[in-house]
Amino acid sequence: MKVAVLGAAGGIGQALSLLLKTQLPAGSDLALYDVAPVVPGVAVDLSHIPTDVTVAGFGADNLAEALTGADIVLIPAGVPRKPGMDRSDLFNINAGIVKNLIEACADNCPTACIGIITNPVNTTVAIAAETLKAKGVYDKNKLFGVTTLDVIRSETFIAELKGKSTSEIHVPVIGGHSGTTILPLLSQVEGVSFTDEEVAALTPRIQNAGTEVVEAKAGGGSATLSMGQAAARFCLSLVDAMQGKDVVEYTYVQVDGSEDAAFFAHPVRLGKNGVEEILPYGELSAFEKKAKEDMLEGLRGDIQLGVDFVKG
Ligand code: NAD
Ligand code: LMR
Repeated sequence: MKVAVLGAAGGIGQALSLLLKTQLPAGSDLALYDVAPVVPGVAVDLSHIPTDVTVAGFGADNLAEALTGADIVLIPAGVPRKPGMDRSDLFNINAGIVKNLIEACADNCPTACIGIITNPVNTTVAIAAETLKAKGVYDKNKLFGVTTLDVIRSETFIAELKGKSTSEIHVPVIGGHSGTTILPLLSQVEGVSFTDEEVAALTPRIQNAGTEVVEAKAGGGSATLSMGQAAARFCLSLVDAMQGKDVVEYTYVQVDGSEDAAFFAHPVRLGKNGVEEILPYGELSAFEKKAKEDMLEGLRGDIQLGVDFVKG
């Protein structure tokens, strides 16, 4: 298994690479790519950790080498938010970064599974899809928006609120990855129930959790450590699935025939070739139905922005 991390010298990239160095199966290769000159040093640093995962660093001129033979590519390359910004404010810089990196994926590892972390995810995933289509190598089963952070945050907040162990709490989160497009399905959390007041408070807390971190970091960036953990969980689930285990994760994927949006986070059964089956997200409460209807127009607009960026 070869995993390439693009943007590996950044806040997420370093945390994620550390977790993958210590948790990928023995015999795996980790390729770290970044335009920042520190990336070979990050690779040397990680290579001193005694696990049976090889690590190599690749600088600005060596993207093709980093990608060749990759089974999984994770992309956290790009700029993060500062206080007062929305994720959509990152579009101007990050759209071009994602497009360029995806073109290189198409050229060097066209059959790899690709996980997009770079914001605005609602839009960058559509940019990746259109870029891969233009290159003639798009496989909708192999492109994912990584929304796992919304899931792990929900699990943490609910376990805290209800005095449970986080291991007992599993939370479906559907939709997209920004503001009200993040829709936790609190009505479906097994083993706990919520009052209407709790739902009304917890839903926006989960939706605004990214902003909570951005404000707490006071100009020093956005979530990196929790995102590293979330991306590692997603990647390791994909590795497990590729090795034959039955795994379901919530992730933002292309959903053909969806009445919601062309891309939507669903429960997805992962398999050897990426998406094996997109599962239905089940019955919604009246509160969730309204929240979904209210956010669809915005999410569809975010997706269209990505399509237009590539098609011109
Ligand atoms: P960061 O600034 O710490 O790191 C970004 C890295 O990307 C830097 O090392 C930079 O050199 C590198 N980079 C920039 N352009 C590049 C290019 N063309 N090729 C390769 N590398 C390049 O930022 P961060 O905190 O790690 O966040 C990265 C992105 O992830 C941001 O867009 C942020 O909004 C997003 N993010 C997404 C989620 C999510 O849930 N999906 C969560 C947190 C952050
Ligand atoms: C998050 O949810 O923490 C990320 O999308 C980063 C951000 O800008 O909020």
